Amino acid sequence: MLPKSVREGDWEHVPVVVRRAWERCCQQRHWPLVVLGDKGVGKSVFAALAYCDWSLGSAHFLTAATAASMLKTAETQGIELPDVQYRMTDQALLRRWCELAGLLVLDDLTNGLTFSTATKALWRIINERADRPMIVTANGSPETIAEVLGESLADRLAQGTVLLWPGESKRPPAGRVLVVE
Ligand SMILES: Nc1ncnc2c1ncn2[C@@H]1O[C@H](COP(=O)(O)OP(=O)(O)OP(=O)(O)O)[C@@H](O)[C@H]1O
Ligand SMILES: [Mg+2]
Repeated sequence: MLPKSVREGDWEHVPVVVRRAWERCCQQRHWPLVVLGDKGVGKSVFAALAYCDWSLGSAHFLTAATAASMLKTAETQGIELPDVQYRMTDQALLRRWCELAGLLVLDDLTNGLTFSTATKALWRIINERADRPMIVTANGSPETIAEVLGESLADRLAQGTVLLWPGESKRPPAGRVLVVE
């Protein structure tokens, strides 16, 4: 599911260096595009804009935690999706995301991975998707990915294009701080 924030997102607010990296990645097919940066800089909005504009075949936008959880469910009991007539196995789901899709977005790679099989699931997805169009976003640095998900996954991702997002959070402040005296 797309983040709500994409509704207010537009390409003009994506830094030029990021837009250029995206164009270069599409032209040179140096996949995956791994977008790393601080919280709130605009990674998910950028990935969602790229997903919405994608015209070369089907595109899927998933948080990494959702993708890992869906794959686990498919593996143990099969999974039903609204647009698929049959209960999918993990193999069928991997085929859908990794072989048949034009673009796969895995958002928030280092967040919300709450069960131990997540790394295995992400490894399967990222490995199968290999050199095809894929955007992966994560908070932090390449070292953070290695710490959270292991050296081998970090190394696999580093084979593509790694973009370090410049700048600071664009997220508008939410909520209020009340000072009671
Ligand atoms: N291209 C854009 N156009 C307009 N607003 C934007 C854009 N990019 C980011 N923003 C604003 O900044 C907020 C944070 O963006 P986003 O959710 O993409 O950050 P993020 O880098 O994915 O953060 P996190 O690491 O916490 O997931 C958005 O909710 C939106 O208000
Ligand atoms: Mg995000």
